[in-house]
Amino acid sequence: MRERKRETRRRLARALRDHRLPAAWVDLDRFDRNLDDLVRRASGMPIRVASKSLRCRALVERVVQRRGCEGVMCFTPAEAVHLSHSLDDLLVAYPSVDPHEVRPVFARLAAGKTIVLTVDDLEQLEILGALAREAGQVLPLCIDVDMSLALPRLHFGVRRSPIRIPADALAIGKRVRSDPHLELVGVLGYEAQVAGLPDKTPRAAWNTMVRTLKRASIRDLRKRRGAVVRALRQEGHAIRFVNGGGTGSLESTRADPSVTEVTAGSGLYVPTLFDEFEAFDPLPAAGFALPVVRRPAKGFVTCLGGGYVASGAAGPDRLPRPFLPPGLSLLEQEGAGEVQTPLQGSVADELAIGDPVFFRHAKAGELCERFAELHLIRGDEVVDVVPTYRGEGHTFL
Ligand SMILES: Cc1ncc(COP(=O)(O)O)c(C=O)c1O
Repeated sequence: MRERKRETRRRLARALRDHRLPAAWVDLDRFDRNLDDLVRRASGMPIRVASKSLRCRALVERVVQRRGCEGVMCFTPAEAVHLSHSLDDLLVAYPSVDPHEVRPVFARLAAGKTIVLTVDDLEQLEILGALAREAGQVLPLCIDVDMSLALPRLHFGVRRSPIRIPADALAIGKRVRSDPHLELVGVLGYEAQVAGLPDKTPRAAWNTMVRTLKRASIRDLRKRRGAVVRALRQEGHAIRFVNGGGTGSLESTRADPSVTEVTAGSGLYVPTLFDEFEAFDPLPAAGFALPVVRRPAKGFVTCLGGGYVASGAAGPDRLPRPFLPPGLSLLEQEGAGEVQTPLQGSVADELAIGDPVFFRHAKAGELCERFAELHLIRGDEVVDVVPTYRGEGHTFL
């Protein structure tokens, strides 16, 4: 599967030669290889696919069909409702109480689908309880437990849930128990600082620091995740699943005895933010192709489109990166532009007007918010063109 860059470029260019550019592509051979690798790394623990990192129904379905994968981690109730027409076992992992989003969930529950919403606050329970009562149904819930490492001068992790210890979770559990329209069925403990933070960068001191913090964090979160799950079960909550992890943490998450399933998504497309991890070495499998439209000077080309900047703390690592041919870079002054993207490098002089330049996005699923369809490539052929969420007329977030 390791092929020369020149060969990859030739394949992708042949595949897209009769297609309009800009175009987004997924290399299915690489995608499937990455999927096999995630399943191998999960070593028997079921993988719930993070749909936010794919944002394409056809590819979510492809992953769920693979042995070793079960269920989808969705990002909004409306998205879960949308997917529920062809998929089941949908966990919405981020709290949402908007009645416009939540009410349609009840119709799908009534149709026999499993959709679980996530909570971490008593106020959310008030609203969700009222909506469930109005619908005359029982709403299954998952409690999100904060897995960050709180050090005196450093918060190593994300700011999401306030639930950290068993007592916090039990307070939520008690309120759920008091409402016949709510039921607690799952626990989510996502260790973002282990799963999403690169630790094999060119900066050795950074890598040492991050690996040390990750080790300390894994010790802390394993204790707390297990304690919360035990406490809830002791109180009689029928916890059916305990979800943890992400692409970058499969090894340590699946080794936690309290966890019953791991999540992964980014490791399928493999955007640039997942290039520098010690634990795995995946293949870039998705990106976009822009046509060269101008040659402003020797050593430069300018492409059409390209300003597809990723979310998160703004910085150069959020910009898309020219991938093939190798040797091209963005200009510091212009970055990836709203309408055009200039590139520099001596290889620019070998490119003709109309030639494709292949780019990779910094994040996984966000690429699909810029394109209505994905060109699925096998070898040097487009074997299918499938709609993204955007192509299906949806912008969930
Ligand atoms: C709750 C949750 N679980 C898991 C993940 C990991 O997803 P991925 O493998 O796409 O990085 C994320 C990503 O942000 C997440 O928010």
